Amino acid sequence: MLPDSFAKLLEVWPDLIIEVNGDDNVLRCDVEQIQFLRHSPASKNTITVNGSHNEIVIEDGGTLRDSHLIVEGSHGKITLGAKTRLRMSAIKLRGNHCLVEIGKDTTIESAKMLCQEDGRLIRIGDDCMFSEGIFIRTSDSHAIVTVDTGERINPARDVVIGRHVWMGRDVKINKGVSIGDGCVIAHGSVVVKDVPANCVIGGNPGRVIKEGVTWSRALNPQPRAPLKSV
Ligand SMILES: CC(C)(COP(=O)(O)OP(=O)(O)OC[C@H]1O[C@@H](n2cnc3c(N)ncnc32)[C@H](O)[C@@H]1OP(=O)(O)O)[C@@H](O)C(=O)NCCC(=O)NCCS
Repeated sequence: MLPDSFAKLLEVWPDLIIEVNGDDNVLRCDVEQIQFLRHSPASKNTITVNGSHNEIVIEDGGTLRDSHLIVEGSHGKITLGAKTRLRMSAIKLRGNHCLVEIGKDTTIESAKMLCQEDGRLIRIGDDCMFSEGIFIRTSDSHAIVTVDTGERINPARDVVIGRHVWMGRDVKINKGVSIGDGCVIAHGSVVVKDVPANCVIGGNPGRVIKEGVTWSRALNPQPRAPLKSV
């Protein structure tokens, strides 16, 4: 039987496909303040939990369209901040104590986020804008080992994206990457190292191609007086 919090969601959004196996899994949201939309009758939104003591939080104004939340493991948490929109996307926790946190007002056209291996984290700040074909991962999903001893040399690592970051089409973010506030990641980039704030990053591997910039959702924003440093 579905836990109460998930069953309540299904009453308001009957097209949703929800499967929950395990104990003490909870969904926290105001079911009247979030939306699950579908592009066509054939498309779907799903929530799947296999494990125990997991939490899914969708804050007010959150919208999922043709998207999937998947938890494989226990003590995990997915948080979608207020007014965050997820379209044609999948967030997957695979491991115990995994966390994916997305801030408020972030828009995602199509992304896959894989938070894999115990205790790993993907954190994305407020007001980010992700295009289509984004892939963010904390693990390589297979081991690279030394020939001599068989020791693994590619451990899983957290990914932290700052606030107001724009990712162009087909950007990939590798394990262990931190991206500073206000950055733009050029289309097709593969980011493998940390990125400071207010840069444009491009290429594979991604490198700084512009500094001292940020971006606007509006195509022709009004120029303003230079910011004074403090
Ligand atoms: C990030 C982006 C906006 C930067 O545009 P820009 O600031 O006008 O950059 P420029 O065209 O002046 O290029 C600056 C440098 O970066 C390089 N560059 C630009 N795009 C690049 C890319 N995708 N990968 C690698 N290098 C790139 C240019 O060759 C140039 O190098 P140079 O200085 O050695 O000549 C643009 O590259 C981009 O990705 N556009 C697509 C955005 C997108 O996906 N939109 C979908 C809707 S959300």
